[in-house]
Amino acid sequence: MTQIALLGFGVVGGGVAKVLTENQDIIKKRASEEISIKYILDLRDFPDSPFCDRIVHDYDTILSDPDIKIVAEMMGGSHPAYEYTKAALLAGKSVVTSNKECVAKFGQELLSIAAENGVRYMFEASVGGGIPIIRPMINDLSPNNIISIDGILNGTTNYILTKMTQDGSDFSEVLSDAQAKGYAERNPSADVEGLDAARKIVILTALATGIRLDSDAIYCEGITEIDPTAIALAESLDCKIKLIAHFEKIDGKLLSMVSPRLVPSDNPLYAVDDVFNGILVSTDMLGDVMFYGRGAGMLPTAGAVVADIIDIVTHKTVGEGIRALSWKIADGNEADFSSYRCDRAFTVRGDIEDVKKYFGEPSRYFIEDGKISFTVKNMSEAEADAAVRNVSLINKFRML
Ligand code: HSE
Repeated sequence: MTQIALLGFGVVGGGVAKVLTENQDIIKKRASEEISIKYILDLRDFPDSPFCDRIVHDYDTILSDPDIKIVAEMMGGSHPAYEYTKAALLAGKSVVTSNKECVAKFGQELLSIAAENGVRYMFEASVGGGIPIIRPMINDLSPNNIISIDGILNGTTNYILTKMTQDGSDFSEVLSDAQAKGYAERNPSADVEGLDAARKIVILTALATGIRLDSDAIYCEGITEIDPTAIALAESLDCKIKLIAHFEKIDGKLLSMVSPRLVPSDNPLYAVDDVFNGILVSTDMLGDVMFYGRGAGMLPTAGAVVADIIDIVTHKTVGEGIRALSWKIADGNEADFSSYRCDRAFTVRGDIEDVKKYFGEPSRYFIEDGKISFTVKNMSEAEADAAVRNVSLINKFRML
């Protein structure tokens, strides 16, 4: 039997207990032994939970117990999750986590401490909720160069944008709904302002390149400015607005960013609605590959945490199973954002001749109620910034 400890008994922690209980037979078969929760660390007591006898409030109880070989960290946030993870790894315990903030900020250090101590640090649940993406990036795509990644990586914002588009729902009402469903972060500004997606694209970029960018330093724009005029612009161009996390290389340097984009109906990410995430990875040998599934929520995320636990139980010797990772912190590897080029869409007030003068010949345009909506191909950030200074801007979007 393997005994484990859970750090945090919120949405994901509660889900891990549920998955381990409800699917214990199949998990025992696949892990070749029983996996049992010995401790749950939380500030609260949960007197009505069947797990109330496992609740502890002192982390030292877990750290000092030699029976605990695996710690599942689902506290969220950087602190004390980082300190607790580090202490567990130094004590010779493997750690699995759903905590994207901790992986994005401290991944390279925690991976190296794990390697030095002959244990594992695993984080399948940190990106894409229940979608298998971390393990395929590490193992299955390892013969490929990753050319680009485009991902809908935040379930809460995709849920909000879908409801705003399909039902004309109000932003704040749908956000409350997403919170009630357990999709949103404790502080949902991380979702709606794009930071959660930024952390996730930083993790995928590190898997693709071995270099860990600073998630607070990459370009990051959320969905708080999306209004009915923006949704109407998208619809009239046969697109949907999605919060897209993007990675590519520009002249060998790394460009990772998050922003709302217009996704045309012929792009596979167009059909990714509600809480689902979709991750389109473009590679040199395989070509394009798409990962799709539930990107947030209790059981999908918990299932990914439990998959990592089973992986550790079934590969007791470090070096077996998943390939070991070693990341470096970015040091001059960041691309200049102003040189990033993509297709773009704008709505402005004014004259079509001004549009042509400042933006070049549009690839499409239409005029409605004195407003001109148009698209342009392959325009850089610097060119777009310069052009919009000359017009009365209503909306601007990058396109996929
Ligand atoms: N708040 C996150 C989301 C949870 O909505 O995607 C999963 O990481």
